[in-house]
Amino acid sequence: MLKKLFGLSLSLILSLSYHANAQDIRISTKNNDLILRVGAGKLLYQPYLGKKLANESDINRLGYGHEAYISHGMKDYFSSAIRVVHTDHNPSLELCYKSHSQKQIDKNVTQTTITLKDTQYPIEVKLIYTSYAEQDIIKCHSEITHKEDGNIMLHNYASSMLHFDNKEYYLTSFSGDHAYEVNMSETKLDFGKKIIDTKLGTRANMFSAPFFIIGLDGKAQETSGEAILGTLAWTGNYSFIFDVDQNGELRIVSGINPESSEYSLEANKTFVTPEFIFSYSSCGVGQASRNFHDWALKYQVKHGDKSRLTLLNNWEATHFDFNEEKLSVIIKDASDMGVDMFLLDDGWFGNKYPRRNSTAGLGDWQETKTKLPNGIAKLVEISKENNVKFGLWVEPEMVNPKSELYHNHKDWVIRLPNRKEYYFRKQLVLDLSNPEVQDFVYKTVDDILTTNPEIAFLKWDCNSPITNIYSEYLGANQSHLYIDYVNGLYKVLDKLLEKHPEIQMMLCAGGGGRGDFKALEYFTEFWPSDNTGPLERIFIQWGFSYVFPAKTLCAHVTNWDKRSGIKFKTDVAMMGKLGYDIIYHDLSPADRAFCQRALITYKRISPTIQEGDLYRLHSPYNSDHASQMYVSKDKSKAILFAFNMTPRNRAIPPKVKLQGLDANKNYLIKEINVIKQAKNTTNKKQTQKEEDFIVSGSFLMNFGLDVFLANERSSKVFEITEQ
Ligand code: DGJ
Repeated sequence: MLKKLFGLSLSLILSLSYHANAQDIRISTKNNDLILRVGAGKLLYQPYLGKKLANESDINRLGYGHEAYISHGMKDYFSSAIRVVHTDHNPSLELCYKSHSQKQIDKNVTQTTITLKDTQYPIEVKLIYTSYAEQDIIKCHSEITHKEDGNIMLHNYASSMLHFDNKEYYLTSFSGDHAYEVNMSETKLDFGKKIIDTKLGTRANMFSAPFFIIGLDGKAQETSGEAILGTLAWTGNYSFIFDVDQNGELRIVSGINPESSEYSLEANKTFVTPEFIFSYSSCGVGQASRNFHDWALKYQVKHGDKSRLTLLNNWEATHFDFNEEKLSVIIKDASDMGVDMFLLDDGWFGNKYPRRNSTAGLGDWQETKTKLPNGIAKLVEISKENNVKFGLWVEPEMVNPKSELYHNHKDWVIRLPNRKEYYFRKQLVLDLSNPEVQDFVYKTVDDILTTNPEIAFLKWDCNSPITNIYSEYLGANQSHLYIDYVNGLYKVLDKLLEKHPEIQMMLCAGGGGRGDFKALEYFTEFWPSDNTGPLERIFIQWGFSYVFPAKTLCAHVTNWDKRSGIKFKTDVAMMGKLGYDIIYHDLSPADRAFCQRALITYKRISPTIQEGDLYRLHSPYNSDHASQMYVSKDKSKAILFAFNMTPRNRAIPPKVKLQGLDANKNYLIKEINVIKQAKNTTNKKQTQKEEDFIVSGSFLMNFGLDVFLANERSSKVFEITEQ
């Protein structure tokens, strides 16, 4: 009782003292501190972001640093976090501390809300920080409201601004193109600005992924040194500004890309920015990635704690050319292989304009009678008879001009009324800022799921960026379109999630054009790239692994890259969520048997891969080999992958030192996923199984293993088990 009373009075004192002094606001995780300080004139500063300070009194010794959330039009000349034009055309904002509160959401999660207020205008900005102690993750976003007489215009509206005062900064970004996603490049940041942004709208990440690494005081290292890993949870245009000022101080401004997105905000309405999520690590970026993975599976990703379905997809096997008979054979193949599910891809809909290729049918979501006379229902039934689940492809945000939908509802299409239409993949984007269109998209998907309640999975595709940017619905507010589109999409997804919480969904955008942590609230996984050639996939999966857990990365074995064998392809795909997209019965009997065994193996080892700790051991960017391993949380199991890409003749492969094991435990090392030797093979080394052996964790981590081969396109997988 006394304790309770004491607890109560202590929290009362704390909250009183916040109001009385309101000087320092400490946002902590297990290992880190972000300190904000209210200074002269009640401005809010960020004096510190880094490793946790040992004593409360240490904080007193900090200076002020930069203003935490800098507004345009006052004393600063570099990138601002917010720029507003008031109803009287005044373009300035002076944000002063008003109050703050800290709320313990649960033992691990704390939410800090700081309210800032303009000195002259009735406008408030809340900065909201959610910290996850165990995972060393901080999320931040802002909320803007006002009570002016009319609308104010928001020109920029960052989710977050962070400041650094280090000797050097190195930025790693992840850029590319269709089938060439997330190529890592590192560049030193000197005076001036570097912006990574996108304005593709829907397929927003086609050229660059929405995450980055900053190496502080040197290049970012995997296992040592200070690094920041950050990303924006927004399924649309984003922008990261890295601005180094004349004193060598870096500010990072993250949020929705404000370009062509000025937002006219009504009085008493709140403009909510998306979450910027970051992890600071003082022991390398590998730890920051593990922080992200743990946080994502526990707090963010749909069904983060559940296993995923292995599958056989028909896209690479048939493209649009299929009928019920052909699909029945593939469904039987799926059953024979031992995958959990058959996934029917694009091409099953449209009657007046049947979907024979990508030019027609999008928008008309009725089964094509000539291809599927008995509809989806029959395919669900055949799947059931064959003991596999059924999944279906949809692309509900899009329309082909050759469709009934387009002819009946041009007003629902994003298109410029007085210009010739420009097509990306022969299609246009529906206007999701319009509530009627939201209802249509919701109803399309809901009808499919309600009519066929046994559909277990949806692949939700999105092959076009927003083109011909104009919304009939938005009238004078055209610059709202990019933002209202994304919020409209979230409304649809919210309703679907509420009604169909069990459905697993893959997010796809013609490859890796979409994939962010807000989308992953609705989607269990995403498609990193149409490029399933294993050599390229090693790089692509490596890139996405910086923030996304293995469970969310769909990885399929296909016919891409004829020079790679089934084992190499399967080993690469096993590092993510394994699936197949091949003509199974065209494989040799030996390869078919290998796939069957691999699926059984994957069932056994996937909990370690999908829920364990990832250690990136040997980067494909450094040599012709790559290696990564996954360690179970209790360190009793690990799976080690080693790949040889195109090593040069006589090059001596490096040894690999393992990580994350218990030095004092003994482990059995067993090579798995071995392919039976074909009679005419020239690649004997690849097919020779390593002998099992037992060795200590200390040996594995300090001396290492010889796991690489000199053979091109070859690989080894080891199961490591505590003895
Ligand atoms: C693009 C996707 O990335 C492919 O996997 C496939 O689903 C096609 N779209 C279908 O149009």
